[in-house]
Amino acid sequence: MYAPARFPNITYPDAVSPNPNVLLGTQSNQESPLKYPSPWSTGQGDWAESYKKAIALVKQMTLDEKVNLTTGTGWRTEFCVGNTGEIPRLGIRSLCFQDSPTAVRYTDFVSVFPQGVNVAATFDRKLAYMRGKLLGEEHRDKGVNVALGPVAGPLGRSPEGGRNWEGFSPDPYLTGVLFADTIKGMQSAGVLASAKHFIGNEQEHFRQIVESIDYGFNISQPGSSNIDDQTLHELYLWPFADGVRAGAASIMCSYNLLNNSQACQNSYMQNYILKGELGFQGHILSDWQATASGVSAILAGLDVSMPGDTSFNTGYSYFGPNLTIAVLNGTVPQWRLDDMAVRTLASWFYVDGDTAGVDLNFQSWTSDVYGPLHAYAGPEYGYGLVNQHVDVREEHGEFIRRLGAASTVLLKNERNTLPLSGHERLTAVFGEDAGDNPAGPNGCRNRGCDIGTLAEAWGSGQGEFPYLVTPRTALQNEVVSHYGAFEAITNNSAFAEIAALGKLATEVHGVCIAFVNADSGEGFINVDGNIGDRKNLTLWQGAPGMLANLTANCNNTVLVVHGVGPVELEVYKQNPNVTAILWAGLPGEQSGNSIADVLYGRTNPGAKLPFTIGKERSDYGTDVLYTPNQLIPQFNFREGVFIDYRTFDYRNITPTYEFGHGLSYTTFEYSNLEVQSIEAGDYAPNTKGWSPAPTFGSINNSSSAYLFPSNMTRVPLYIYPWLNSTNLSRAYGADGYGDSSFVPEGALDGSSIEAHPAGGAPGGNPLLWDVLYRVTADITNSGPVGGIEVPQLYLSLGGPYDPKIVLRGFERLSIQPGETVQATFDLKRRDLSNWDTVSQNWRITDYTKTLYVGSSSRKLPLSAVLR
Ligand code: NOJ
Repeated sequence: MYAPARFPNITYPDAVSPNPNVLLGTQSNQESPLKYPSPWSTGQGDWAESYKKAIALVKQMTLDEKVNLTTGTGWRTEFCVGNTGEIPRLGIRSLCFQDSPTAVRYTDFVSVFPQGVNVAATFDRKLAYMRGKLLGEEHRDKGVNVALGPVAGPLGRSPEGGRNWEGFSPDPYLTGVLFADTIKGMQSAGVLASAKHFIGNEQEHFRQIVESIDYGFNISQPGSSNIDDQTLHELYLWPFADGVRAGAASIMCSYNLLNNSQACQNSYMQNYILKGELGFQGHILSDWQATASGVSAILAGLDVSMPGDTSFNTGYSYFGPNLTIAVLNGTVPQWRLDDMAVRTLASWFYVDGDTAGVDLNFQSWTSDVYGPLHAYAGPEYGYGLVNQHVDVREEHGEFIRRLGAASTVLLKNERNTLPLSGHERLTAVFGEDAGDNPAGPNGCRNRGCDIGTLAEAWGSGQGEFPYLVTPRTALQNEVVSHYGAFEAITNNSAFAEIAALGKLATEVHGVCIAFVNADSGEGFINVDGNIGDRKNLTLWQGAPGMLANLTANCNNTVLVVHGVGPVELEVYKQNPNVTAILWAGLPGEQSGNSIADVLYGRTNPGAKLPFTIGKERSDYGTDVLYTPNQLIPQFNFREGVFIDYRTFDYRNITPTYEFGHGLSYTTFEYSNLEVQSIEAGDYAPNTKGWSPAPTFGSINNSSSAYLFPSNMTRVPLYIYPWLNSTNLSRAYGADGYGDSSFVPEGALDGSSIEAHPAGGAPGGNPLLWDVLYRVTADITNSGPVGGIEVPQLYLSLGGPYDPKIVLRGFERLSIQPGETVQATFDLKRRDLSNWDTVSQNWRITDYTKTLYVGSSSRKLPLSAVLR
């Protein structure tokens, strides 16, 4: 019985959970015990060859060269949002780290792809892979080495979370599968994917101290996400395990504290979980300014500090010279530095970055062709060619259009309103969200506004549009090509005009198409009081008023919703004058063409909601913490694994549209469920531990070898690995020099590390991926046209504290009218297991497991008990 560890016998008087046991469980094990030393890479899995190549180089490196490889050069000192120092002697370039998960950020002639949440809505592994590949190719062709994405943290604990759209879905299984395929796609292009943000980065408020103080909040540390061990494994860590297994070469640790220990220096999360249990072989990279110390962070597993300075442009670094000093004075052992260097280089070789890469051809800080080489220092420290304006888009626009349409969810379709014929008497388009931003598609820096149509959200997860096809343009072109009548009103306050046009459309049996949205983004930008996170789940741009006016006059209103996640739609679902509703998410540059393809039936919608649309925000049972509850804000994840559909199911709340819901222009029938049990051996705990940490090459211990070279000009605020003095206590303003009392016990001991029972290979114990059951079901297209269906498999794990059901399989199928296609789902050992906090391993409990197959989380016509 594994329950006791999760449900200790303690009571909390302020129980708010519907199930007090869930509350009790999630209040336990919310801790990050010290775990040292930091596991060194061993070339596990398919990393052997890149590991060997890395060692061959690291062996030849001097101490300062190794340091240079692991330290950023400082904010805006080089061309990318982050760069490591170069090692010309060994042919190692300065590695370029650049956002984003959607586009190559801060440059031009790149594509803006549909965002993560749209990929999730496709439930399509191939599309996820292809988007990753094309995105990777664009990064590569601009000269980027490490692309900062994709995102599985935030997972989407609360629908208001500002950056949920950068990731995929609050369901860990769906996110895990698509995260892994995206990583594989990106890395196939020869760039490293930096999977982020590890971990518990579920809200924007209080993610950084200075940012929060600037907003007027009084905090002393970033907020702490307090997550128990079981919830961590079954929810937030789950997709990262998939990502590591898929070969993620880089992982970015996050700003927040995790169980009150900062994520980038949390030895439990980085040493024990990521490098220990998950056997991660690549490098851990800090989020920008998330490095909060040198030696402590390094001993706790951090490998690369970005952008390298303590905070932007201080000119000081916790790494750089401080790391050189730390190795010389013994507070960082050589084996640890060698491991940092090996991980950084091995991850580059792992994706063939050394051969695939092209020279960097853009600079993030200007669009001028010529400019300062070190933007922050100014032209006197070098001036030259900085932007070649290379167009890397090829024909990606076609794919983007297709993906935009494939990710559009048809939520409601009454009276066969859709698809439109194109020969409507009058097509009347409404809504600011249909039109242009008068300041241009890139009019607000970092997309920090919501003006005009919304095709990407704000923050570091976006890029500059090469063009933006608005819905208004695409629909007008469509109608005009049929010589039809078209009128658009994009001013939501034009009440009289909206009413009159709506009325006319009703009278002539035309159609009204209304575009609305809701936006959010990264916490450094505040749009209309939304500090990254949304303040509410209502529509923006005055859309509710516009819609009330329109639907009072037009009896055939098609509602198209752009946006970052769930919004309140119940009133439109209930309104008979709203004949159809589509969720189009954040579709990228081809937005208008994609929605036209769906509205006019060239694409039969096949997407499914990757989240629950609740009637009101309180239905979700989770929310962002908007005002600090302590000096170190505490985000208590008391709901455990009960987020999104799991909490709606548990509390028996009817949502407006459930997770997995999505209609088609045809209909499907489900039949013939079969379950075959597959022979696999027993599960065995991993017994492979670590033999002594190797060192590569020898280190010259004389500090004089690391003085700033006399023949070099020092660029102001640039971070170098070199020292100012041979007296180590004076070499770099080293306050507290010589104090090694903070070095945790065991942190310097490279003699061995015990095996983690759930470890053994990248992603965790390989036996977890044994297939134990193969499930098949027949899906028949019973309607008039060919279409796409996504049959979904849900599992009841059966325990008293388990969610009613959890997603454990899906397949996107194209089916012709009258045709029957078989869906196949492989259930792996991990899919059937719970995390057992006592044995620190996955375990299949004795509770009866029941599986369900159907078209959404609440339409599950087929079921079977697993035996
Ligand atoms: C901070 C963001 O959290 C991260 O996602 C991004 O990659 C870096 N800034 C670099 O821009």
